Amino acid sequence: MRLNAELQLDEYSLVTTKLMKRHATTSDETVDTDELRKRTAQLALVLDLANQAFVRHKPAGLTVDRLAGRLHKLRRQVAPAVWQKLIPLAQQHPVAQYLIQDPFTRWSVEKPRGYSGDASLLDIYYKHPVAEEIVASSTSLGRQIYAYTSEAASSVAGRERRDILTRTVDETVRRVEKAEVLAIACGHLREAECSEALAKQQLRRWVGLDQDPVSVATVNHDFVGTAVEALHGSVRGILRRAYALGTFDLVYASGLYDYLPRAIGVRLLQRALELVKPGGEFLFANFSDEITTDGYMETFMDWPLILRSADDMWSIINAAIGKGSFEAQVYYGSNRNIVYGKVRKGDL
Ligand SMILES: C[S@@+](CC[C@H](N)C(=O)[O-])C[C@H]1O[C@@H](n2cnc3c(N)ncnc32)[C@H](O)[C@@H]1O
Repeated sequence: MRLNAELQLDEYSLVTTKLMKRHATTSDETVDTDELRKRTAQLALVLDLANQAFVRHKPAGLTVDRLAGRLHKLRRQVAPAVWQKLIPLAQQHPVAQYLIQDPFTRWSVEKPRGYSGDASLLDIYYKHPVAEEIVASSTSLGRQIYAYTSEAASSVAGRERRDILTRTVDETVRRVEKAEVLAIACGHLREAECSEALAKQQLRRWVGLDQDPVSVATVNHDFVGTAVEALHGSVRGILRRAYALGTFDLVYASGLYDYLPRAIGVRLLQRALELVKPGGEFLFANFSDEITTDGYMETFMDWPLILRSADDMWSIINAAIGKGSFEAQVYYGSNRNIVYGKVRKGDL
């Protein structure tokens, strides 16, 4: 989990587990020793049950489903400070040796790019062809677990999010001729691969911005000769108005707010709206607090997220837009694992 030396991580997003942990607990939260002892025993039982199921070659998907469900329940029952103490205990349990065989879990834990939720991790659950080799070279048990983790509701919602982005860009192009689009924290910009508007060369430009130089290079390589152009940049740079980006008909951020504390989320939304042309839109997505894979992700995937409700999204939007001339909506994706906020800037 050591941070890659050359990696220029933007401190405004909590993409490392260490930063996230600092955000999740405050120093004045004390842990009741009796409570911790009780919950540690409860966790041990949950993990031992999963371990025994693996030893007995029970169906892997069912084992992980039960484990994830029990971890979710436990996470909801305990104080955040107690949960933070339980996470390393789970990670050190022998059952981890089975779970780590899943290529999705393994990539998430090993963090080859030095931080959580990198674009290659998304390729694994997007079932993108570039990830086929990683899956195929896993053990048979690993592939069985992957069959479950890649079809878990949060993964299904992540793939839907990618498709919603494609649709939103294509709709923007139907609304505005030669539309200009900005993706903040673009990753590998997989949503562009299925865009009809991009294929038909109907966009003026589709700019992607990401703090990860590997992702930026991948996008520029994959989309060479198209309207897509990726830039190396960060949330911090956007907040400081460090880039001469111009304005856009659509600005969106997907897979980013899950790592942003509220105050930064508000400031980013304000700044993003400065980049939106009159009549244009800003769309942002966040994993919702209704997901049930949260306990599994935080323990065995070492992938904590800031989960939000529709009210949390409204709170960010209302704080950012004040009494300005904007129309906003908040809605859930089809299985409610991701919540979306959309702000339309009034025509001048
Ligand atoms: C979960 S991926 C999402 C990729 C893509 N938007 C998608 O939805 O498939 C998160 C991306 O956010 C980028 N990121 C995280 N914090 C950032 C920051 N502060 N500034 C710029 N990019 C950031 C990471 O480099 C990574 O590519």
